[in-house]
Formats: sequence, C-alpha cells, structure tokens
Amino acid sequence: MHYFNYKKNDLYCEEMLVSDLANKFATPLYVYSQATLLDHFRKIKKAFTALNPLICYSVKANSNLAILKVLVKDGSGLDIVSGGELYRAQKVVCSGKKIVYASVGKTTKEIKEAINYGILMFNVESSPELARINAIAASMHKNVKVALRVNPDVEAMTHDYITTGKKDTKFGMDIATVRNIFLNGAKYPNLKIVGIHIHIGSQITKSSPFIAAIKRVNKLIDVLRGKGIILEHLNIGGGLGIIYNKETPQTASDFAKKVIPLLKKSGLKIVLEPGRFIVGNAGALIAKTTYIKETPFKRFVIVDAAMNDLLRPSLYEAYHTILPVKKVKYKSSKLSDIVGPVCESGDFLGKARALDVGENDYIAVLGAGAYGFAMSSNYNSRPRAAEVLVNGKEARIIRKRESYKDLIQKEII
Ligand code: LLP
Repeated sequence: MHYFNYKKNDLYCEEMLVSDLANKFATPLYVYSQATLLDHFRKIKKAFTALNPLICYSVKANSNLAILKVLVKDGSGLDIVSGGELYRAQKVVCSGKKIVYASVGKTTKEIKEAINYGILMFNVESSPELARINAIAASMHKNVKVALRVNPDVEAMTHDYITTGKKDTKFGMDIATVRNIFLNGAKYPNLKIVGIHIHIGSQITKSSPFIAAIKRVNKLIDVLRGKGIILEHLNIGGGLGIIYNKETPQTASDFAKKVIPLLKKSGLKIVLEPGRFIVGNAGALIAKTTYIKETPFKRFVIVDAAMNDLLRPSLYEAYHTILPVKKVKYKSSKLSDIVGPVCESGDFLGKARALDVGENDYIAVLGAGAYGFAMSSNYNSRPRAAEVLVNGKEARIIRKRESYKDLIQKEII
C-alpha cells in the first residue's frame, strides 16, 4: 500500500501532481509520502499491540532528519549503527531510552558518545566488543545495558548481500558463545547483559526464517532462565519485505500473528527494528529522460538519475517498478533498458521494460524510499538529488539539491 497513484493519466503522490513537483524542484528528485510513512509505522505498531513493543525505526534505511522527525513524533524509537546516526537521532530529539545501537565495528569514540547520550542499549556483536564497552563504561563510572546479538544460523531466503543470520556472515555470535558469556557475566562488572538481539537479513518475505530464529533464541532464553539468569529484552531486528514487483510478502498483521505466540513465550519486552517496511514504498525517485537511444540491438531510455542516486539495481540487480509520470499515447513495441549517464554498464535502473516515454518526459522509480538516497553517492561528480516530503496538498523540500560547489567543498589543492 502506498500513495503513489494515477488519476486519469497523471501520477500523483498523495494530492500532489508528481509532474508539478518535478517542474518545481527539478530532477533527479526523491519524493516521499508522509501518509505512507505513517501508515506503515502504525500498521506494525497495531499488529504488535498485544506486546506493546518498542519499535525502533532503522535509521540506515532513510536517515533524512525530516523523515526521522515524523516517525519520532509518532512514537518511534531509533535503531542506529554509527556515531553519525546517533548525531541525527540527537538532532530530532529522540529520547536515549528509545535508541538501540548495533554494528560489528563500534569505535571507542562512538561507544563513548552513545553512553553519554544514555542510549537504551548496545546490541553487541563480539567478545572483544563486550570487553571494550565494559572498559569504557568503567572509565566513565557508568553501568551500561547491552544485548547480545545472536547469529542463529538460519537461511533468510533473500539476496546473499543482505543475509545476516548465517554462521559464515560477520554478524552476531553463535548460540554457544552467547550462552557462555551470559554464564560468565561477572567478567563484565560495568555491563548489564539484559537482552538478546537477532537480525537475520532484509527483504524477507516469509515468516519461516523469523520463526526458526526466534525458536532458537527462545530455547537459549529457557536454558538461561533455568540457571537463574533473567533477561529483560528480546530484539527481533528488522527485515520485513515489501512489494517491489510480484512478491507476495506477509502483511504486518500476518507476521505478527505468527510470531506473537513465540514472543509471548519468551516473556521479555520486545524490540523491533523495521526500516524498509516503513519507508520503502513511501518514496519514489523521479527522473527526466535525456535521450531515447535506439541501437540495432536495443532501445535505451537514458535518464538523468543514475546508479549514484539509486544503487540497488546495480548492486543487487534489484527490481524497481518504473512508471511514466504522465501516461501518453505513443507506443513503442520494443522493451527498453532504463539507464543513467554514469560510465559503467552496471548503471541501470531497470532492464527490458515496457515504458512509453519520449525525450524530456518524467519517469518515477517506485519503492525508492528505503536504501535509496541513503546509499547515494557523488560518483562521476554528480551532485546528489533533492528530497521532497509530501503531506496531502503540501510539499516541502527536506534536502536541497547539491551544487557543484558542494562537490568540492572539502577538497584542498
Ligand atoms: N536492524 C539491523 C541490525 C540491520 O542491520 C538492519 C538492516 C535493519 C534492522 C533494518 O532492516 P530492514 O527492516 O530495512 O530490512 N541496502 C540493502 C539493505 C541492507 C539492510 C541492512 N541492515 C538493500 O538496499 O536492500
């Protein structure tokens, strides 16, 4: 469900004509729908009401301050992975009590900053990291809460690059190691090891991998309880898949129905870290066609957005629906590759698509709200796109388009 729909032949975001936005703010342009964003956040919240979980939106999916603010205002916490994301959380005045911090490589500086801000807990991914946080906490005369990230060794049935719960990935610790740490908790006098964290991957469309992972950690929680170790939190991460093409992902409520009984069994306070589910379909990348290039072999629609703006197709061969912003009459019998101007054959937004557009027409790449702008770069010295947030009949710029000057601002000859 999202609010990018046609009325007659024109694509709208909520009540705004997308072509008006593109004319006003120029392209490439990220357009977000606030109603979609809030709808999805509230859907998850509602689906899990029975558990009253802490929902920590995963900042990495889309870290624009205006997006964070909308969600924090609506009650969301934040899942962060860096000092930079903590800085953003501070800027939108997210309470530390609603911040969880994962990452396999937290630095001393980042750990200190997070302790100072008073985050709820660190999701710790290795023994050396535990020792480091303990030592830093001791030096700051603090007691710090942590959860241990378990790598449950389950197949998430998603792209290899975004599978994070298999034993050969860098994430988390195996169950035996985690059990031993809990049993030797006294080794870390400045830590309160009070939770278990899992995050098994992203764009997961089935509930079975989540169920398998939760069952594994439930067993561990039982074993620990038997030894008198009582935990506070179970964090099941993010990973809920969305529709990009023909996927049939579970809805939030289907997912909740399946996992709530298991989560209740754990008896712990539940934390969720959804990113893509909340923001993925709330954003579209709008681009303008520069040329239509017909070769004896192929038809290329060359647009002014590229892999530096939206990396997912190039990096994961991810499919994004591409629509004309205005449906027109001309019909091409040929399928087209939609490509950008970047000097790489891997620079494409879509392949073999039926897309009826001519020169100077606008197109919309849907499902670009998550890991879209967030993964953009200045490759080929391309200034990054502007971002606009639509709320009903209003649209406001939430990130200005970068200029050539911005490109070289930090450089020294
Ligand atoms: N929690 C942790 C610890 C994570 O590492 C992630 C995502 C999330 C939560 C949120 O996952 P989500 O609900 O968004 O699936 N760039 C890739 C996705 C990378 C996901 C990284 N971790 C893509 O464009 O598909």
